[in-house]
Amino acid sequence: MAQDIHGQRLLIIDFGSQYTQLIARRVREIGVYCEIYPFDAPQDFLRDLAPRGVILSGGPESVTLADTPRIPDVIFELGVPVLGICYGMQAMAAQLGGAVRSSSKREFGHAIVARAPESELLATLEGGSTLPVWMSHGDQVSVLPSGFRVTASTESAPIAAMEDASRRLFGVQFHPEVTHTPEGGEMLRHFARDICACDGLWTPANIVDDAIKHVRALVGTDQVLLGLSGGVDSSVVAALLARAIGTQLTCVFVDNGLLRKNERDEVAATFGPSNALNLNLVVVDAEADFMMRLAGVDEPEAKRKVIGSTFIDVFDREAARLDGVKWLAQGTIYPDVIESAASKFGKAHVIKSHHNVGGLPERMKLKLIEPLRELFKDEVRQIGLHLGLPRDLVFRHPFPGPGLGVRVLGEVTKARADVLREADAIFLEELRAADWYDRVSQAFAGYLPVKSVGVVGDGRRYADVIALRAVETVDFMTARAARLPPDLVEHVANRIINEIEGVSRVVMDVSSKPPATIEWE
Ligand code: XMP
Repeated sequence: MAQDIHGQRLLIIDFGSQYTQLIARRVREIGVYCEIYPFDAPQDFLRDLAPRGVILSGGPESVTLADTPRIPDVIFELGVPVLGICYGMQAMAAQLGGAVRSSSKREFGHAIVARAPESELLATLEGGSTLPVWMSHGDQVSVLPSGFRVTASTESAPIAAMEDASRRLFGVQFHPEVTHTPEGGEMLRHFARDICACDGLWTPANIVDDAIKHVRALVGTDQVLLGLSGGVDSSVVAALLARAIGTQLTCVFVDNGLLRKNERDEVAATFGPSNALNLNLVVVDAEADFMMRLAGVDEPEAKRKVIGSTFIDVFDREAARLDGVKWLAQGTIYPDVIESAASKFGKAHVIKSHHNVGGLPERMKLKLIEPLRELFKDEVRQIGLHLGLPRDLVFRHPFPGPGLGVRVLGEVTKARADVLREADAIFLEELRAADWYDRVSQAFAGYLPVKSVGVVGDGRRYADVIALRAVETVDFMTARAARLPPDLVEHVANRIINEIEGVSRVVMDVSSKPPATIEWE
């Protein structure tokens, strides 16, 4: 039976919290579809979404000040359950006749709240009369709006949770979406599934079925072109479209000579003719093109520009050989869409530059198809697994579009890229063997064209330096060097120097971001 898996949706109103996307991911994990919109989205638009419930996010501002964000009136007119988190709770209190005051004491970190014996929102939580939670706020609700009662409190925040069960309005001062609130997941599940009566239709199997139906309806018998990079997003698009439209899909994979070791073979093995996926794969060997255009270029942004424009030229040339292509598929995912969320309300539709293959869509009059537009990265991975993509591919570390081009410092040559490929492969192989690959967010080797002296066997070696980098990060905006075991690092260094002639020395990069960046260029 055809189900509308978007029909039962929650609306998340964003007040600018760093956790807003996390709320959405938690709700999706519970099996409930949700969409994030800013607090100032048009009210008619929000009404037309017809959500089964609303979650109001936290935010950095203070409702005690004029001109700070407010909950759109339409939210209370929908007649559906509303859950305000932190700023969302404070705004709810202020707008429904209660009061909020700024506290001199900021509460940040772990806290234990005392629970009222009865609460609809907290009813299914374990833990008796207390609840460990994560707090992060300055302001707090000081006077309840009429009809509400207190359902949790701490010493410093007597109104730490409130509800008006008859109107199904709930507020919590703490953050249920973070893992530091152990029962937070259950609280969100109870809200989304029980209180808002959503069925849990948002599962990988249903998402795939729905996407396939949607793609088929959209493209009919047209031909679709996809630039396959070997990364997670474009690989999942390829697997999904292969299921949906088979050989109507042509994937173009450009070997720019800046790929990791074996990457081209892995792509060919996963998506090539011998595989169960039924699609057309075109592998373009463009190493010579790229190396020629990179000769003599050593400034990082200049290299990025050369690599980007060469890619577009090569892709363009290949695409022009294909007959009757009407669609260009892209691996845009939901965080990209949220970033350019204003797009929906009239501003330009911005696609991240590395997803965007130049002016191709306009020139070839291609229409865009973006089957992952609604999905978070973790959902893309789940779908990848569901579609049978190899685990190693689905959970691989991010790899920059310009590839080894920004990891060979200074001028890129084939010889340097070849040395770096070998060193990087040894590093990643050893990380995997020691079970460290999945414990770091991104790891790679860099090539430093700095001559250094070493002794190998009986001989003196005067050669270049390899730098190892492994970082832990949640969002890639900040990062710290991973604490790799010294014995592992030593083993990797020895293997690299012994096995690769062009390397005399290996160093470890222990810089944090900021002030350093993750990549060296
Ligand atoms: P940085 O070096 O800015 O890297 O700390 C943050 C994340 O972005 C990746 N990165 C890039 N990705 N094109 C890309 O597609 C680029 O030019 C680029 N530069 C950095 C980097 O690998 C890390 O995951």
